[in-house]
Amino acid sequence: MSTEVGYPAPTVTVATSLPKRALGAVLIVPVVTGPDGDGSATVVGGPFLDAETIGEIQVSLRALGAKGGPEQVTRLHVPSLAVGSVLTVGLGADRDEWPADVIRRAAGVAARSLSGVETVITTLTELHLEAAVEGLILGSYRFTEFRSAKTAPKDAALGKIVALSTATGAKRDAVRATAIATAVATARDFVNTPPSHLFPGEFAKRAKALGEVAGLEVEVLDDKALAKAGYGGIVGVGKGSSRPPRLVRLAHRGAKGKKGKTVALVGKGITFDTGGISIKPAASMHHMTSDMGGAAAVIATVVLAAKQGLPIDVIATVPMAENMPSSTAQRPGDVLTQYGGITVEVLNTDAEGRLILADAIVRACEDEPDYLIETSTLTGAQTVALGARIPGVMGSDEFRDRVARISQDEGENAWAMPLPDELKDDLKSSVADLANVSAQRFAGMLVAGVYLREFVADGVQWVHIDVAGPAYNASGPWGYTGKGGTGVPTRTMYAVLEDIAAHG
Ligand code: BES
Ligand code: MN
Ligand code: ZN
Repeated sequence: MSTEVGYPAPTVTVATSLPKRALGAVLIVPVVTGPDGDGSATVVGGPFLDAETIGEIQVSLRALGAKGGPEQVTRLHVPSLAVGSVLTVGLGADRDEWPADVIRRAAGVAARSLSGVETVITTLTELHLEAAVEGLILGSYRFTEFRSAKTAPKDAALGKIVALSTATGAKRDAVRATAIATAVATARDFVNTPPSHLFPGEFAKRAKALGEVAGLEVEVLDDKALAKAGYGGIVGVGKGSSRPPRLVRLAHRGAKGKKGKTVALVGKGITFDTGGISIKPAASMHHMTSDMGGAAAVIATVVLAAKQGLPIDVIATVPMAENMPSSTAQRPGDVLTQYGGITVEVLNTDAEGRLILADAIVRACEDEPDYLIETSTLTGAQTVALGARIPGVMGSDEFRDRVARISQDEGENAWAMPLPDELKDDLKSSVADLANVSAQRFAGMLVAGVYLREFVADGVQWVHIDVAGPAYNASGPWGYTGKGGTGVPTRTMYAVLEDIAAHG
């Protein structure tokens, strides 16, 4: 993302029939396991291939023992087709209706299995156009900025996707899906950019550039402005680093004075989390390069909302800091004053996310939003409770359940979690209004949510989405998710914004 602003979108076109000649292209075709459990693969995908060609593909698949199992890919040469090659991708057993994420994952696996391919044509789009386009773009996502010629992968991301579809509105769907996937890829780029290169000042600069291109109102507060205005949490966390903190505000004014709702977005932007003086063990500290995953998703989402012209106001408030140990760092036992006046005893400097987020939430509530969506890589306890792929969502009961349902539909699979009142007692301090950690180690994800709740203004429907695990894929690639930044929960937040725009 050095010269361009944001991830470069591939060209996506919709066609109603197979191009006459596309010898450089790969045709991606879905297959299902055969009827009557005979174990052979059956090609699906509507009117684009004639019976003879389908027969030819099936004969080849049978010869290779390919059965159309979920996410099984097979590359074929099909002489009767004027394309370079065919890639079949398995969907498992046939169904009348295809869940979006089955198609998204299959498309992702197909895209990941191709290298050095510039153009793909696909019939997967006849089953679910948007999911297929998103899966292809996200599966072909690559992050190569820091590779020299020595190790640069030769497989660049896809440049061109030809989506075969007979559906009405296919063009509009393709544009929307491309915009969404590109936003997710932009969030991934931020997460994958190492902390050497992405520190608060640089992060703010890049967010500003993205925002300005998208026509957003942009405001950046630097460390001096933050101290003057009383952002004690952001200043306290940021003061151990030679690279000072920032607060970025990006506003999309889509309601245009009409009755449209106002949604506040808040995302944790710790560009690196050493733990501070309460320092983390070395073993997997490098994963803390993902500790700005919430901020990345929030920035990508508000920019997407503007590009898609959503008829609501969306205002992102993004605190950015680097949590470092040094002689200027805050100490365990220090007391700081959060923006708005609540005092906090910092018992553990590694519980820094809630400190910068509390300031940002109070600031965001000054805009009197109807809804507030906050997301962060907040607690290791999230992964203990739900694993690496399932975000925990907490907050106002009704809105929380709505966000969880939408996230399930999107395949990001957030799960509703409670905020039990009794946990607040664990955050009592003997010197200040609150302590930043509880003395016992249970329910760490919920304790963090209970802390944040103290700062949300009355009457605001809010959620906190903990993506500590889901924002960053530390293990092997799967579906449309490669190693590294995932962009989660960008698609959930954008779908929630669309839902609010449609239903209030
Ligand atoms: N950024 C971490 C949470 C995290 C852990 C994110 C693993 C991604 C993967 C956060 O700042 C943190 O350190 N949380 C502490 C809180 C504790 C001190 C109450 C944790 O989870 O251990
Ligand atoms: Mn921490
Ligand atoms: Zn952190």
